[in-house]
Amino acid sequence: MSLLSIEGLFAHFGGVAAVDNVSFDVEQGEILGLIGPNGSGKTTVLNLLSGFLLPAAGQVKMRGETITGMSPDRLAQRGVLRMFQMTRVFGRMSAFDNLLTAGMARGLSEHASSQRAQALVEELTLGPVQYLNAGQLSGGQRKLLEFGMCFIEPPLIALLDEPFAAVHPVMREVMANFIRSRHAQGHTFLLVSHDMPIIVDLCQRAVCMNAGRVIAVGEIRSVLQNHQVIEAYLGNSDAHDGPEQPANQDVLQ
Ligand SMILES: Nc1ncnc2c1ncn2[C@@H]1O[C@H](COP(=O)(O)OP(=O)(O)OP(=O)(O)O)[C@@H](O)[C@H]1O
Ligand SMILES: [Mg+2]
Repeated sequence: MSLLSIEGLFAHFGGVAAVDNVSFDVEQGEILGLIGPNGSGKTTVLNLLSGFLLPAAGQVKMRGETITGMSPDRLAQRGVLRMFQMTRVFGRMSAFDNLLTAGMARGLSEHASSQRAQALVEELTLGPVQYLNAGQLSGGQRKLLEFGMCFIEPPLIALLDEPFAAVHPVMREVMANFIRSRHAQGHTFLLVSHDMPIIVDLCQRAVCMNAGRVIAVGEIRSVLQNHQVIEAYLGNSDAHDGPEQPANQDVLQ
């Protein structure tokens, strides 16, 4: 049985069908890429899956049990965690204390939380800044901290919306390694990213959306080579007719 089954989801904003009859499954232990041009509905799907938005129609099931319409808090308790919205960094608290607090909020003892926080600080290369207020960290360091807060008590599925965007390449590699190691331990990710080399590197399968709909699902390379997917990217690019080509074109072709 799939970890998550998404069946016929709809979400509208005024006249815009941001999510238009979207169905796909997320299998236990996979890193599933969710790709598509700007405005195709990826973030809205994550909002629906994490309880930030109620679907106009459709169902989300986790291991067969309906979880549609549950609040973000309840979903987080069940192990569906959306990073970068669920986990708030407290700017006036040290990075270490943010981790400690996140662990205790998820039911760990202070001792257990402290031990896990220490290990995560090392793994995420936050040692030198662990006692600085989180508000003093760079954007990339804050994202690394949020990874730690999310995984101090690992979720059943982590929903990641563009975690690599505007992050220094060195920190991007730390994040990618973190995802790889958790994947090797059997954890499940739904990863939204415009960074095609990272998607190809990390994901076994991908779902591609365009204009609210799923236009391709399957093994990552076959999705990227699908002609509808290529057309969706080229057709939605402002640079389509100009001398500059979309950044993803090399990977897509
Ligand atoms: N709160 C909102 N109110 C009105 N329209 C919205 C809202 N959120 C999203 N939309 C619209 O829904 C559509 C899908 O947006 P969404 O943010 O889900 O796309 P996306 O695939 O995440 O794009 P990007 O790659 O740029 O992040 C777009 O047309 C967007 O303008
Ligand atoms: Mg988005």
